[in-house]
Amino acid sequence: MQYHLAPLFCRPWTLNGITPRLIESHYEGNYGSALRRLNAITEELEALDPAMTSAEVVNRLKRDEAAALNSTLLHELYFASLGGDGRTVPETMAAALARDFGSTDRWRQEFIALANALAGGSGWVLLTYVPRDGRLINQSGADHGQNIAGGIPILALDMYEHAYHIDFGSNATAYIAAFMRNIDWSAVQGRYEDATTVAPPRPLEQKQFADVPAMTVEEVKAMLDSGDRIQVIDARPRHYTTRAQDIMEGAVWRDPERLDEWIGELSKTDPVVTYCVYGFHVGCETAIALRKAGFDARYMAGGHYAWKAIGGKVKLFE
Ligand SMILES: [Fe+2]
Repeated sequence: MQYHLAPLFCRPWTLNGITPRLIESHYEGNYGSALRRLNAITEELEALDPAMTSAEVVNRLKRDEAAALNSTLLHELYFASLGGDGRTVPETMAAALARDFGSTDRWRQEFIALANALAGGSGWVLLTYVPRDGRLINQSGADHGQNIAGGIPILALDMYEHAYHIDFGSNATAYIAAFMRNIDWSAVQGRYEDATTVAPPRPLEQKQFADVPAMTVEEVKAMLDSGDRIQVIDARPRHYTTRAQDIMEGAVWRDPERLDEWIGELSKTDPVVTYCVYGFHVGCETAIALRKAGFDARYMAGGHYAWKAIGGKVKLFE
């Protein structure tokens, strides 16, 4: 695999308070050398036999590869972040910043604070879109390798000293202000629009239970916290309960195999929530049986362990 150089995205002579000399040196010396390093490491990795190479060497090469790859990706994004007036935030982008940060100003304050925190050190400040959450987040990392998994950075500020020393000496604050004055917001918006077309990770799908109403553990917790009257049935299989140590607070355990024996205890007016160990089958089937009998029943997705994973209260299971 051979990585290819990207031409400089911004037009250096149009920048406001950042000299072409700085951009040239940064592009040629830092971006260029990261790309050459990446190609050299890649070649080295391709030539070696992983089975015959010490773990130490493989680890070092893979770590260096990730750092060089991220450095090339982030530098390309950095040069593509510059070239605008920094002020005119187009409508879609402004709406996204308002949704996720409260306002463009609030976003700006947080982004600048993250940059200032890296002054005198090195690293990147990124505005990143996270498809899983459908939202933007600011992040900063002290090196090339701390990116949010699955996140798509759409704006990058290079806080390594090489990014500003020629023009600003050690005055990182002046550099950050100059960067903000040169953001190309229409390019950022274009990348944002591309990022939002990326689908979130595929959720767990249980086709056979698609018609059964489910509740998330968060929803069940909110109902219990607000004192709503719900009947929570722990329907973990009997064989499982012999090694179970705890049970969700507010739930009663009922043997899913003996539904006929306990169904009479339930009230038809209050909703019923059932769950099992992980939420795959038994809780769903119990909810189906209860719905057939006329109850307003649903299952709690993720079951007992999802409840514990959100920090839901449990008590000793006896
Ligand atoms: Fe750089």
